[in-house]
Amino acid sequence: MSIEVKGLTKTYKLKRHEKKTAVDNISFTIPGGEIVGFIGPNGAGKSTTIKMMTGILTPDCGTISIEGLTFKKNRKEIMLKTGVVFGQKSVLCWDIPVIDSLKLFRDMYRVSDEVFKENMDAFSDILGLDEFIGQPPRLLSLGQRMKADLAASLIYDPDILFLDEPTIGIDVLSKERIRQFIKKINEERHTTIILTTHDVSDIESLCEKMIIIDKGVLIYDGSLPKLKSIYGSADLEEIIKKIYLAGEDRYEKVC
Ligand SMILES: Nc1ncnc2c1ncn2[C@@H]1O[C@H](COP(=O)(O)OP(=O)(O)OP(=O)(O)O)[C@@H](O)[C@H]1O
Ligand SMILES: [Mg+2]
Repeated sequence: MSIEVKGLTKTYKLKRHEKKTAVDNISFTIPGGEIVGFIGPNGAGKSTTIKMMTGILTPDCGTISIEGLTFKKNRKEIMLKTGVVFGQKSVLCWDIPVIDSLKLFRDMYRVSDEVFKENMDAFSDILGLDEFIGQPPRLLSLGQRMKADLAASLIYDPDILFLDEPTIGIDVLSKERIRQFIKKINEERHTTIILTTHDVSDIESLCEKMIIIDKGVLIYDGSLPKLKSIYGSADLEEIIKKIYLAGEDRYEKVC
């Protein structure tokens, strides 16, 4: 499923008369079945954009169309077709065993027993869920909790998956497993994946397309090879540093 974002804007109210424009008139298209890296420095507006694309926040201006569906008219349908993982915040019930949360998702999303079992088998294979599925999230390590959240977001076979920093604080081996898992889901199910990360190797190993924002403004929207050719370098980390530094200069000028 593809996503079309047009003129998206979100301003947060701070103290009485202060406002912060977190997302400032951004437009982009995410083609169906692709893994897109959505990146930008801290505070760029990535999580805010993802919250709008998943219906958690309502935009001040602009439109989001998911394969022609909009939150105004088709909220329920969109919710059934999208999954989201926030690295910083779990969707699982904190005090009950992970398996019970997964069963709750199964019932909420009306997943058949057959599909539930198939998915649980497939996810357990790579994510090693069996080790900790009987424990509540409050007793899990960060990496285990993240794996449980990934399973929860995919148990109902969404067509689109939003991943907001799914590898934050994860060890190298678990990171590799999570990457393999993301790749497998995309290849086998053609799930459209929007991935936010500060780990350049996540992008290198997973993404064909990149969207870069800075201070709420769109900086780049295109393929990874094209970005490298524009900068005449194969070193993505260096390129990203240059882009972020240019943004800081712009900030100083504005101030
Ligand atoms: N609930 C809120 N109220 C007020 N301001 C907010 C709120 N959430 C975010 N902001 C501000 O909006 C801007 C964008 O924040 P956002 O969380 O979208 O950034 P981000 O790109 O996800 O950053 P990071 O890489 O650090 O996760 C920041 O300046 C932040 O301080
Ligand atoms: Mg964020």
